[in-house]
Amino acid sequence: MSMEGAVRAQPNGLARVDGRLAGKVAVITGGASGIGQACAVRFAREGAAIVIADLADARRTVALVEEIGGTALAISTDTTNAEQCEALIDQAAEAFGPVNIIVASAGIATAAGRSNVQSRAASPGASDVVTLAAADFRRVIDVNVTGVMQTARAGARQMLRQGSGGTIIFVASTAGRIPLAGAAPYCVSKAGVWMLTKVMALELAQTGIRINAVGPGYTATPLIAGIEDDPHALGMAMAITPMKRLGLPEEVADACLYLASDESSFVTGQILHPAGGQFTD
Ligand SMILES: NC(=O)c1ccc[n+]([C@@H]2O[C@H](COP(=O)([O-])OP(=O)(O)OC[C@H]3O[C@@H](n4cnc5c(N)ncnc54)[C@H](O)[C@@H]3O)[C@@H](O)[C@H]2O)c1
Repeated sequence: MSMEGAVRAQPNGLARVDGRLAGKVAVITGGASGIGQACAVRFAREGAAIVIADLADARRTVALVEEIGGTALAISTDTTNAEQCEALIDQAAEAFGPVNIIVASAGIATAAGRSNVQSRAASPGASDVVTLAAADFRRVIDVNVTGVMQTARAGARQMLRQGSGGTIIFVASTAGRIPLAGAAPYCVSKAGVWMLTKVMALELAQTGIRINAVGPGYTATPLIAGIEDDPHALGMAMAITPMKRLGLPEEVADACLYLASDESSFVTGQILHPAGGQFTD
C-alpha cells in the first residue's frame, strides 16, 4: 500500500492529508494506552499512518484513530523481545511503506506494576534498594531500557536501509534527572534512556536519523491511576511540580509531535520536558 493511499481525510476532515506528518508512517510502542495512545491520535490527526505495538490489546487506539479518519494497525509486540521488535518494523514497512517515525513509549513504573509515588506514599521505605529484589530491578531495566534500545535499533536499521532519514523519540521521564527515594529501578532506567538518546544521536547524526526524548512529569495515565484520590501521593508529586497539576497525555503527545515533525529538523540528542516547570534551570 502506498502512503498516499494510507491516510484519507474523512468527511469530518480531522485526519489532515496536508498535516504536519502527512504521508509519514509512525510506529508507536506502548500505543495501547496513555502517552502512546495520545501520540497515535495526535499523529494520525496530522496525517500519519499509525502502527501500534503493545503487549496489551490496542483495539481501542485503532478505533480512536479510525474515528478521526486515520489509518492504524495494531501489532502485538513485547519490546523486551528483540525478534519481535525486528518483526514489528518489518510488518510496519510491509503494510504502509517506509517507516519515518518511531515513538518508544512502552514502559513500566515497577516490576509489580504499581507507581513509585503511590507505593512510597503508602509505605515509607517501600522498594528502597536495601529491600529491592534484583529480579524486580532487572525487569524494569529490561522493559524501560533494553526494550527501548531494541525498538530504536530495529527502527534505525530500517531507516538506514531506506536511506531517507527519520526521527526516533524516546519517552523518558523527569525521574531520569530527579532521584526519587524508593524508585531506583525507574530512575536508573530513565537516566539510561536519556543517555541512550545522546549516544544514538551522535552515532546517527550524519545519517539523517534524529534521536530525541521527551521527559514528562506526572501525567494522568493508567501508569499513575488513582493518584488524584491519594492526597499523600499527590502531595509528593505536586511538591516538585511548580504548575501544581498533572499533565495530560495529549500535552506530552504535542511535545512528541514537535520532535516527530520536520519543524525539529536541526534538533537531535535533546530531551524536552513537558513537566509543569520541574526544571527551570
Ligand atoms: N504517566 C506518567 O506520569 C509518566 C511520567 C513520565 C514518563 N512516563 C513514561 O511514559 C511512557 C508511557 O507511560 P504511560 O504513562 O502512557 O503508561 P501506560 O501504562 O498508560 O502505558 C504504557 C503502555 O506500555 C505497554 N507496555 C509495557 N510493557 C511493554 C512491553 N514489554 N512491550 C510492549 N508494550 C509494553 C503497556 O501495555 C501500556 O499499554 C512510559 O515509558 C513511562 O515510563 C510516564
